[in-house]
Amino acid sequence: MTALESWQAAVMRCRTGRSRSERETWERLARWYDCWVRHNDYVSIFMPRLLALLDHPPTSRVLEIGPGSGAFTLPLASVVKQVVAAEPSQPMRDVLTRKCASSGVNNVTVLPRRIEDVVETLEGPFDLVLAAYSMYNLLSIDQVLRHLLVLSPQVVILMGDGKPMAWRQTLYRRFKGQERVASPQFPTFHAVLLEMGLEADVEMVWTSANYVYDDEEAMLNWWQEKLGLGARRSADLRAALREIAEYREGRIGIYGQRQTAMIRIARRRPPSP
Ligand SMILES: C[S@@+](CC[C@H](N)C(=O)[O-])C[C@H]1O[C@@H](n2cnc3c(N)ncnc32)[C@H](O)[C@@H]1O
Repeated sequence: MTALESWQAAVMRCRTGRSRSERETWERLARWYDCWVRHNDYVSIFMPRLLALLDHPPTSRVLEIGPGSGAFTLPLASVVKQVVAAEPSQPMRDVLTRKCASSGVNNVTVLPRRIEDVVETLEGPFDLVLAAYSMYNLLSIDQVLRHLLVLSPQVVILMGDGKPMAWRQTLYRRFKGQERVASPQFPTFHAVLLEMGLEADVEMVWTSANYVYDDEEAMLNWWQEKLGLGARRSADLRAALREIAEYREGRIGIYGQRQTAMIRIARRRPPSP
């Protein structure tokens, strides 16, 4: 099996092995997603690294893949000339466009499409392409990467290190009877890059992975839905969550850390004559 085939097999395993479709997942999570962003530090950790890659932010154009609710989009838009963002999920787009409007941001163009369906029609050049935790569902990742490197001299991808969080696996095993089907992550992706002959700078960075809720009931409801339990086994689940959750600043959460790979792929320079 080639590295690309392994990647595609992992995408398919994830598509078929999860109980919710991609669309349903983001329908469920769109409103919650801003809460995730607020209680985690990845934007403040990666924004300075991204800005350092731009020679002159005020004249820069950035293409963002899967902006979600705009964790990076709004801070980027406040310093660059234009952000073009491809986001297929309607509920995510709704949150993003509402936030742009309420912050008076008018230099973000949101495309209601998956990157693989729109990349060939995009008008470059861009100074940077950013895909933050959004490449996990892309089958034609090789073709998309090749197009992106025509549009921009650099592509930055943020992706998990592929190591499952132990507490989450324990919950899945105990309440679903099976491990969570993981989407493809950095090790699988890196093999594709090597196979394509693309060189990348990779930095492994620790960030928080905090699941924070208003109260215990909200936490219980969230995990009942996530694990597809409905009201079943709620006493058991409550007890299991109590073992791993703690209160910080008056809110209950499961507080943890995860590693993200920041992968920067630069367009190859033509050999000097
Ligand atoms: C985990 S969220 C990340 C959101 C944001 N980038 C962040 O870091 O907070 C993943 C987002 O990628 C989007 N997405 C998934 N597949 C995509 C694709 N093929 N093209 C563009 N966006 C995609 C999803 O709709 C979702 O909004």
